[in-house]
Order: sequence, then C-alpha cells, then structure tokens
Amino acid sequence: MNNILDGKKTAATIKDEIARAVEELQAVGSKKPHLAAILVGNDGGSVTYVNAKMRDCAEVGFESTLIHLEESVSEDKLMEEIKKLNDNPDVDGFIVQLPLPKHINEKRVIMAIRPDKDVDGFHPQNVGNMMLNFPGFLPATPYGIVQLIKRHGIETSGKHCVVVGRSHIVGSPVSVLMARNAYPGNCTVTLCHSRTKNLKELCQQADILICALGKPEFIQADMVKEGSVIIDVGTTRVPDSSRKSGFRLKGDVDFEAVAPKASFITPVPGGVGPMTRAMLLKNTLEAVQGKAY
Ligand code: GUN
Repeated sequence: MNNILDGKKTAATIKDEIARAVEELQAVGSKKPHLAAILVGNDGGSVTYVNAKMRDCAEVGFESTLIHLEESVSEDKLMEEIKKLNDNPDVDGFIVQLPLPKHINEKRVIMAIRPDKDVDGFHPQNVGNMMLNFPGFLPATPYGIVQLIKRHGIETSGKHCVVVGRSHIVGSPVSVLMARNAYPGNCTVTLCHSRTKNLKELCQQADILICALGKPEFIQADMVKEGSVIIDVGTTRVPDSSRKSGFRLKGDVDFEAVAPKASFITPVPGGVGPMTRAMLLKNTLEAVQGKAY
C-alpha cells in the first residue's frame, strides 16, 4: 500500500538530522546533549519506553542517564531527584515517565520540573507557550504527529480535524496544534471525548482523524470518510501467545478495514510511536541550541 504514513522511516530521517547536528556541535567544542529520565516502579510499558528512549540517545550521540526509583519511593525523595536534575548544569533536559504510582502527586511533580529542561513539554509554562504559539517545548507525541503530517506534505488548511481523546499528553495539545495559525494547522478542530454524543457522525465528517483514546480497533470503516487522513495514537497491549513477549500492540483503528478508505494512515506499531521518541530527542537538541528558551 502506498498510503502509509511511515513513522519508523520518518523518525529515522529525523534521528539522522539530529545525529548530524550533534556532530556539528562537537566540532565546535560543545559537549554532547544530555537527556535524563526518571522511572518510578516497574510498569512493563514504562520500562520498555524508557529503555528505548535511552537507546535512542546512544544512537544519535547523546549522553543519557536513567534514574530508576522503586515503586514505593516517597514523593519527597522523587522531588529531591528532580531538584538534582534541575540544578545539574550537565543535564540539558529530563523527563519523569508517567504514569506515576498512586501515592505520588503527579501535578506537584510536573510543577517541579524546570520549564527550560522540561523536554516533555508538560509544565504549565510550556503548555501556555504552546497555546500562544511562543517558543517552548511541544509535547513529543503531538509534535511527532504534526511532523509526520508536514513531512508527507499533507494539506491541513481549512480541513476538519477530529481528535478523539482529550488527554493532557496527546488529545488536548494536538487539538491546539492543529488549530494554530501555522502549517500544519489552520484546521477546524473538533475535540471528542467520553461524553461526546454523536461520535460516529463527527468522525465521518473528519478530513483528518486523530485517535488517542486507547481502545483497540474502536474506529471501524463505517466511521471514516473516503479519502481521509487517519492518525492512530493507540498502543494497547493485547495478549498474543505466538510472541515471545506474550503480547502485541494494537491501535485504536481497525487498520485492515479502514486503510482502503484512507488517503493516508499510520500503522501500529511503526507510526506515531517512533515519531514520539524522535521528537523527545529533537526537544533535547533544541534545549542545547537554546531554541526553546
Ligand atoms: N507516558 C506516556 N507517554 C509519555 C510521554 O510522552 N512522556 C512521559 N514522561 N510519560 C509518558
């Protein structure tokens, strides 16, 4: 099929660009960009994602540091680790992998991260900058989605973009980016969520449909318009005894059924996921280059 939005390939191109920028920085005597990650506990998905992010760093020539804290760690101890990273001049950017255990106040954690090192773009200062189209860090998944659209030359101006899911990490910020007076952007955006009444009808009206609700194969062929662009952010683990891991990833879209109707569609895996990882690296590079602050 030639209508695939190949996130793996696009992310590889972006990583090559980042690796070249690192070489240029080092050629003028700068240190390597340094990304740190704090991981609390042993949630299977989070461990996999954070390890992958650390591997990505090595691939593009970044330094990386993983701080792995036990599930029962106190909120105060976590805050201490955040302060150390905030104050460490060698660390250019860092993330605290979410979700956090229930006894930890996520809001307090996000607020504690220095905005100019918040390469996840979750701090309210970065969220505000995004709303105003000011420089700052964009959250990696929405940033990856708009890059995927841009690098495939997809027209967005005046289009109806329907976003399903209003999370702080994906749905809400991508709805803002797609509505901005920019490219990609200038869409008329409808943000759907669990209380939306006529979801099917709204999805049928979408020129660009962005699905981030975490329900495997929720979007079926009768819910999409012929020729639409389909972006699938879902990555639910479903049991698969034929795999060594015992699971495989499933998107929010029934790919087999929907792909024949789409002008472009992202696969799962290999669509939005690799783009998210690439954009975290991009934000870290931008932290070093002083582009965001
Ligand atoms: N959990 C799921 N996605 C993300 C992300 O982009 N950043 C962090 N820190 N945690 C996540």
